[in-house]
This record gives sequence, structure tokens and C-alpha cells, in this order.
Amino acid sequence: MPLVNTKQMFEDAYRNHYAVGAFNVDSIAMIQALLAAAEDVASPVIISVSKGSRAFMHPGNIKEAIECVSKDITVPFALHLDHGDSFALCKDCIDEGFTSVMMDCGDDVSFDERVRLTKEVADYAHDHGAAVEGELGELGGEQGGSGSGGYSDPDAVAEFVTRSGVDSLAISVGTCHGMRKHVRLEFGLLEEMMRLLPDFPFVLHGSSTINNEFLDDFNAYGGDIHGAVGVPEEQLRKIVRLGVCKVNIGTDFRVAYVSALRKSLALNPSRFEPRTFLAPAQKAIYELARHKMADVFDSKDHKIFH
Ligand code: 13P
Repeated sequence: MPLVNTKQMFEDAYRNHYAVGAFNVDSIAMIQALLAAAEDVASPVIISVSKGSRAFMHPGNIKEAIECVSKDITVPFALHLDHGDSFALCKDCIDEGFTSVMMDCGDDVSFDERVRLTKEVADYAHDHGAAVEGELGELGGEQGGSGSGGYSDPDAVAEFVTRSGVDSLAISVGTCHGMRKHVRLEFGLLEEMMRLLPDFPFVLHGSSTINNEFLDDFNAYGGDIHGAVGVPEEQLRKIVRLGVCKVNIGTDFRVAYVSALRKSLALNPSRFEPRTFLAPAQKAIYELARHKMADVFDSKDHKIFH
């Protein structure tokens, strides 16, 4: 069962010019679909679990549940806490077997306090074989923050990485979480950070493209979401070519799942076996993950690290 630390993944991704997709999941069944997609394209993958999703999925035994459903999986995968908001939460996840945690200190924390809080998590994680993702710059949107898109300052990023001891860093170059991104990606800023920290793994949050095909179905079968704007895949490909090692996808994954669910519920009014409705939802996220890994992140055929 190849549950690995993200540090190894990112070293390979950086060396071989691809990014690892981190997909937000809410259930073991979603994890099964994600792992199946990764297996079918021979790609490493990150199972990303937020605080809320962990609470929903039985804290304490997520790793064991994944072990049960991943016996035939041969690709490397990591179990990552997305947006951990305290040392206690990050510690619990590391103790439970997560191989990576993100420490998100929020927007209203001074630089020195952010370094202190993040280093505390990094020290604990490193003593226990886990990796830590820090955050600097305002990611914003629906996952937290004001969404005003405060871009990361390259000099502050270099200092933060050195002082906090993080293994990777979420930076703000113009994306934000959720449905309405109004993206203006600052590629020059990213290039400057990479020049200051060569070989260091940067992470892009808020990377959903918000596929209209899924939203059309979502709205056609009873949903009500309008005015969505995502990050075009061509821009994601450029970010990957520049060397970003981890790309986070949450909104796309959720919309694909719920659209398929809405559609199958509406089209099968006399059926009542849950699998009638759940199977198309599983298939939708399987296909989405497979497409992102093979056609956008270039992580296909990288199951063996070189
Ligand atoms: P999206 O909202 O673009 O899917 O971003 C998800 C994310 O960054 C989770 O941390």
C-alpha cells in the first residue's frame, strides 16, 4: 500500500516537470474513485481532506479505511490535511497517519507569529515522518479569507520558507477558492519566487476550472449556481510548466459529483437502490481526475519516482 510522504512526490514532480493533483474528498467512496483514476493513468495523487470532511469521515480511522480500499493500488498516494487551522488539529492528523498537513494560520496573523505557528507544526511533523505545507499570501474565497487576492511577496516567501522549515508553500498568484475566481494570474511573481527558491515546491490553491458541462447539468436538474468563473486549463498547464508541484482541485470535484447525482436522481424517479445514483457520481469524478492527471498536470506514467 504505497502511502507516501509528499516530500518524495514533489522531488520527483519538480525533477520531471509535472504536478501532483490534490483532490478534495468527502467520503471513502470518493477516495476509491480517485485512486482508481490514478491507478489507471499510473499517476501519483494526493487525497486532500479538509477539517470539515475529516469530521464527516470519522476522524481517527481514515487511514485504516483507505488501507482497506487500496490493497490493489500500486501508484504512490499521500493523505493530506487541507487548511489545518491549529497545531492540535495538525498533530491529531499526523498521529492518525496523515502523511502531510497544511498549516493555515488565517489572514490576521503577523509574519513572525505565522512563522512561529507553522514551525511548531513543521517540527512535530518532521519528528513523525510527515510533511508540512505552509501558506503565505491571501488565498481567500469560499475556503477562508476575504478573497481580495493579496498576492504573495517573493522576498517574504523566501524568508518564511527558511525560518518556518516548511516542505512546500501555498502561494497567492491570483487564484482563490470556490465558484467565482475572477482570476488574474501573475506568472512573473511566480517566476520571481522560483528564482529565489530554486527546486522548492510551490502549491497552487483555488485551481478549479469550473466546467460548464457539469454546471449545465447541475442547473438543469434543480441546482442554482450562476456566474461561476474558474481557472482555464491552459493557464494551469502553464503553471505546471513553470514548476508548481501541487495543484488543488476541490470545487470541480464536488460539482462533478453533485451534478451527476442530481441528474441520475431526476432521471430515475422510480428507482431506489442508492447505487443507481451513486455510480454515475463516482464515474464523473473518476473521469475528471483522470483527465486532470493525464491532460493537465502531466503526471501520467510517473508512478515510479526517478
Ligand atoms: P478550488 O475551489 O478551486 O477547487 O480550490 C480548492 C482548494 O484550493 C482547496 O484547498
